[in-house]
Amino acid sequence: MAQLNLILLGPPGAGKGTQAERLVDDFDLAYYATGDILRAAVKEESELGRRAGEYMERGDLVPDEVVVGLVVDRIERSEAQDGFLLDGFPRNPDQARTIDDELSRLGRQLTAVLLIELADGEVIRRLSGRRMCVKNGHLYHAEFDPPKREGVCDQDGSRLVQRDDDHPDTVKHRLEVYREHTSPLAELYEERGLLRRFDGSRSTSEVHDHIRASLATLRLESEL
Ligand code: AP5
Repeated sequence: MAQLNLILLGPPGAGKGTQAERLVDDFDLAYYATGDILRAAVKEESELGRRAGEYMERGDLVPDEVVVGLVVDRIERSEAQDGFLLDGFPRNPDQARTIDDELSRLGRQLTAVLLIELADGEVIRRLSGRRMCVKNGHLYHAEFDPPKREGVCDQDGSRLVQRDDDHPDTVKHRLEVYREHTSPLAELYEERGLLRRFDGSRSTSEVHDHIRASLATLRLESEL
C-alpha cells in the first residue's frame, strides 16, 4: 500500500490534534506532535523540558536546535516506515527544509500537507474552552465537546486541566508567531502542489470526513 507521509498545518486551536486522533486510527499512521513531545519533557523536568519550557510558556517557538532532532529521530523509526502524520512541525522554513532533506536522504517524499484554516476569533473561543487530560492528552472543549463527567477524562478517568499557554494574552501572541513564521509555509507547499485546505470552522466530524475523503483519494491515485 502507498505510503502517506503527512504534515498537519494550521493556527493554534484549529483542530490539528483533534483530527490527528481520528486520522491515525483511520490510516494506521505513526503520529508525532512536537507540542505533545515537548509538554511531556516539561512535565518530566528533563534537560529538553528545561530548555523548551520558558519558550512554550510565552507562546514563542522553541529554538530549532532543540526541536529538529526530535522529529528526525522519529521519522527514521520502523513504526514510521509505512507513513507518518506530523503535527506542529515544520513551523518555519528552516524546519521545512529539514524535513525535505531528511526524507530525500531516506528516499521518501511528502504526500500532502493538510492545512486546517480557522479565523482568529474562533481560535480564541476554542482555546479558552479547551481541556486536556493529564494522563494521555485526550482533548475536550467545555462547550463544544464536553466530557460526560465534568473535569474527568471519558477515556482514561484522569483529571482535565487547561493548558498553561491557553490564556488569552498568550494565545494572541501564538497567533502572531503563527502568522509571522508558520503561515508562509502554506504558500511554499501550495507552489509544490502538496497543500490541501480544510475549513476548520465546520464540526469536528465534518472536518474529519473531508480530510479522510481527500486522503483516501490521494492514496488511490498514488496506487494507480
Ligand atoms: P502545539 O501543541 O503544537 O500547539 P498549537 O500548534 O498552537 O496547536 P494547539 O495544540 O493549540 O491546537 P490544535 O490545532 O491541535 O487544536 P485542538 O485539536 O487541540 O505547540 C505548543 C507550543 O510548543 C508552541 O507554542 C511552541 O512553543 C512549541 N512547539 C511545538 N512545536 C514546535 C516546533 N516545531 N518548533 C518550535 N516550537 C514548537 O483543538 C482546540 C480545541 O477546539 C479543543 O478543545 C477541541 O476539542 C476543540 N475543537 C477542535 N475541533 C473542533 C471543531 N471542528 N469544532 C468545535 N470545536 C473543536
